[in-house]
Amino acid sequence: PQETEENLRSPICCIMGHVDTGKTKLLDCIRGTNVQEGEAGGITQRIGATYFPADNIRERTKELKADAKLKVPGLLVVDTPGHESFTNLRSRGSGLCDIAILVVDIMHGLEPQTIESLNLLKMRNTEFIVALNKVDRLYGWKVCRNSPIQKAMKQQSKDVKNEFSMRLTQLYYNNREMGETFSIVPTSAISGEGIPDLLLLLVHWTQNNVLEVKVVEGHGTTIDVVLVNGVLHEGDQIVVCGMQGPIVTTIRALLTQHPMKELRVKGTYLHHKQIKAAQGIKIAAQGLEHAIAGTGLYVVGADDELEDIKEASMED
Ligand code: GTP
Ligand code: MG
Ligand code: NA
Repeated sequence: PQETEENLRSPICCIMGHVDTGKTKLLDCIRGTNVQEGEAGGITQRIGATYFPADNIRERTKELKADAKLKVPGLLVVDTPGHESFTNLRSRGSGLCDIAILVVDIMHGLEPQTIESLNLLKMRNTEFIVALNKVDRLYGWKVCRNSPIQKAMKQQSKDVKNEFSMRLTQLYYNNREMGETFSIVPTSAISGEGIPDLLLLLVHWTQNNVLEVKVVEGHGTTIDVVLVNGVLHEGDQIVVCGMQGPIVTTIRALLTQHPMKELRVKGTYLHHKQIKAAQGIKIAAQGLEHAIAGTGLYVVGADDELEDIKEASMED
């Protein structure tokens, strides 16, 4: 790690929005993966988490000539389901993140879970960026693969530009709560237009919101964890990847925010003897000062060889 990245934790960015607006596809586009097509019925049913290292973000934004100096080691991006039956997962995701991307399908505008997500974000005072996705579906769209959005827009015909403005204006008219400002980035998860802009906005946000590995009064150093699978118990022996090698420690306290409360407001944590996935958790344990955010956390089971796990933890 570079010296500027020392002791800074990675921000957590949550992706939210109505079903099928393209949340998972946007992540696929950034990662160069194909997770969405492997999902049953193309529907996300659980919370996922992906770590985007600073180097990758720098690479993807370089066409914008941004001097993308990231003060953080990277970004942890949490994917959430948009289907109406998963309000609880959206709530957990939004409760855990530092910033959010709200994905809106440009052809559909505001939809019920868009509004629900907006309300969750507002309630917690979480900043967000709107990705106005599927611009490639505007009739006659000329593909400019992975291009910054302004450059791509310049290539479009008058008709495409008009349709775009019309749909953007409709979005404003339908949003009855005026008076708030947020960034809107037109994107395509299929052909990649606007992705550099989206990443750059995230970077800019992190410049002003550098997050330190937090010392919570009364608990010492804590780390925020997205428990995607399995169960964690107080007293579990865990191994995490550290700057100077694997950190072996014991969970002293398992904390979560109260339901519907802001994780970052201090003094409001709930203590748990055990926690089942999926959940956003704060773990208090000795020796976490040099933990590297975004890497895996391993629980040492009764039959596990500690040395094997230490090795696995450093492969992240
Ligand atoms: P849930 O997680 O189930 O809420 O859906 P999601 O928001 O993750 O959407 P998903 O990534 O599953 O995409 C839904 C459908 O829209 C898929 O068929 C995608 O291929 C398609 N899609 C997503 N993004 C775009 C885009 O930018 N352009 C076009 N043309 N299609 C897209
Ligand atoms: Mg999805
Ligand atoms: Na979907």
